[in-house]
Amino acid sequence: MALQVSSAGFSILAQRRRGSGGSLGARAVTSESVTTLKGDEKVKLGGSDVKVTRLGLGAWSWGDTSYWNDSGWDDRKLKEAKAAFDASVDGGITFFDTAEVYGAGMMGAVNSETLLGSFIKERRKTDSVEISVATKFAALPWRFGRGSVISALENSLSRLGLSSVDLYQLHWPGIWGNEGYIDGLGDAVEKGLVKAVGVSNYSEKRLREAYDRLKKRGIPLAANQVNYSLIYRAPEENGVKATCDELGITLIAYSPIAQGILTGKYTPENPPTGPRGRIYTPEVLAKLQPLIARIKEIGEVYGKTNTQVVLNWLVCQENVVPIPGAKNAEQAKEFVGAIGWQLTDQEVEELRSLAAETKPVIGFPVEKL
Ligand SMILES: NC(=O)c1ccc[n+]([C@@H]2O[C@H](COP(=O)([O-])OP(=O)(O)OC[C@H]3O[C@@H](n4cnc5c(N)ncnc54)[C@H](OP(=O)(O)O)[C@@H]3O)[C@@H](O)[C@H]2O)c1
Repeated sequence: MALQVSSAGFSILAQRRRGSGGSLGARAVTSESVTTLKGDEKVKLGGSDVKVTRLGLGAWSWGDTSYWNDSGWDDRKLKEAKAAFDASVDGGITFFDTAEVYGAGMMGAVNSETLLGSFIKERRKTDSVEISVATKFAALPWRFGRGSVISALENSLSRLGLSSVDLYQLHWPGIWGNEGYIDGLGDAVEKGLVKAVGVSNYSEKRLREAYDRLKKRGIPLAANQVNYSLIYRAPEENGVKATCDELGITLIAYSPIAQGILTGKYTPENPPTGPRGRIYTPEVLAKLQPLIARIKEIGEVYGKTNTQVVLNWLVCQENVVPIPGAKNAEQAKEFVGAIGWQLTDQEVEELRSLAAETKPVIGFPVEKL
């Protein structure tokens, strides 16, 4: 894989890490020829041995007909999803996030794990590139105990066509308690079915409980996957981000571009269709315009798009791996340019303050359940 990453971008990164933590006066100068990521830009997932790219790719929309794709899945969308996968791997983003419930249970839907598995299989015919897969266990009310985790995982592995996954996560907290599920995660590690385990939508309290329970078996809780973007900063306010940092748990940021809203393509005159349109109404979108305009201005200085700026903002928070979703190759290619450069500390803070001013009520606070 050819590497064309601006060394200036990396030197400013190094400078920032070496520095006292104060503001950098200079902007990172990046080359627009960034086409692939460097292998050594990988980060460890928490205390596990699994290394993934600084940015992953979310596969929720692949095959889904409940939230995405205007309720329809067809051959064209399949080809586009496959192209998104290939463009991502071509660009060096090789960490993919899926779940057993993505693309499941609805008329016309195709399971996202099945799709991802077929894309990996196809790719491996010609390419030995290392691909990291994360999937998730659905803590459905009728699933009890540790055994349910193993049987669900075995079904996921069968759909993916893999003998193990890099990261297995509890998708959301169980309503009857989580001890059995956490024990199931530990069993999965011991059986060699997963390389690392994590949770998702876990509050600070649940995170600490899960961490402690796994630690007794000598297993690190590698990640907590939560909703986190410039306009949904609950993890900064509810102790989740601080706890991840304290315990050495990677925060995987889902919906990092606020489901497309932060790209700037949706406006009060052109709101998103489907379920997103009920969250991001023209009123909400109108309030966001000053922030989106400023993101654009900052991006222009670097030759970056809004999408790249807001993903970079998340990476700047440290210990955060964003997993934006891409429906096509173009979207996936754009993510590649989100790293290999860095916003200044002043820009990071300015965007946070501006986002706080708009106070949008966005996202479903699953972590409060
Ligand atoms: N653990 C959980 O409970 C949970 C919950 C949600 C998501 N997730 C994970 O996080 C991943 C990402 O979250 P998400 O899909 O909710 O939201 P997101 O990544 O913030 O937004 C993805 C959507 O934004 C649009 N988009 C993507 N790239 C774009 C670009 N370059 N330019 C313009 N528009 C672009 C696409 O939709 P349009 O083209 O239709 O606008 C795409 O489907 C999911 O795939 C899933 O793996 C996990």
